[in-house]
Amino acid sequence: GRTAVVIPAAGRGVRLGPGAPKALRALNGTPMLIHAVRAMAASRAVSLVVVVAPPDGAPEVKNLLDAHALPERTDYLVVPGGDTRQESVRLGLEALPENIGTVLVHDAARPLVPVDTVDAVIAAVFDGAPAVVPALPLADTVKEVEPREKGEPEPVVATPERARLRAVQTPQGFDRGTLVRAHETVAVSGEGATDDAGMVERLGAPVVVVPGHEEAFKVTRPLDLLLAEAVLARRRA
Ligand code: CTP
Ligand code: MG
Repeated sequence: GRTAVVIPAAGRGVRLGPGAPKALRALNGTPMLIHAVRAMAASRAVSLVVVVAPPDGAPEVKNLLDAHALPERTDYLVVPGGDTRQESVRLGLEALPENIGTVLVHDAARPLVPVDTVDAVIAAVFDGAPAVVPALPLADTVKEVEPREKGEPEPVVATPERARLRAVQTPQGFDRGTLVRAHETVAVSGEGATDDAGMVERLGAPVVVVPGHEEAFKVTRPLDLLLAEAVLARRRA
């Protein structure tokens, strides 16, 4: 089968502060979503990009994609998203045509991921892994706490060994059937998940990690916008 990318781009971007939906904010003059779509279309293996737009923003996103050139080999579709990331990904999966066998899920909020990372994820799925996530070792030590009200000191419960931890990024890559089954199963159980691979883990299917990249960071808070624009400026220099 062929390879498609589902790009959840339906979030509001609350942590970034007031303004347009996060995926439509500009980075050096071009919407973040367009950077993200181009980063995926840069991989020769990708034949379809499904953008999951803000629920009322699908026509606007369609116009935006029509106005920005993509490689000839890459088709695209736009579908409206849902209230949670998980729901948005599910709506994107439902739009996939029959002939797609491999699916990547990539956050619009990670606009600068290098093509080598995309290709490494796809290669690992082609080699037979049902689920693949790019990830990096952590710089900070991580502590598990007993959560308290904001501002109150929180008791520490445990300190997992940092060398065994990884911070996961996207694109995450999947055998299509495995990811669809994971979404169906989690929807039935009613549990939420913060990443797609986590849902596959609950199925009991193996998930493997390949090296991520610093430039695949997620634009989440205002400082991340500064970093993203600096990375783009360096690329153009
Ligand atoms: N996303 C989505 N549908 C939602 C929520 C999130 O498609 N209902 C997408 C976002 O557009 C983003 C990705 O999931 O590309 C990762 O989510 P996150 O970084 O949390 O983005 P937002 O939810 O928009 O930001 P915030 O949590 O700060 O509101
Ligand atoms: Mg969010």
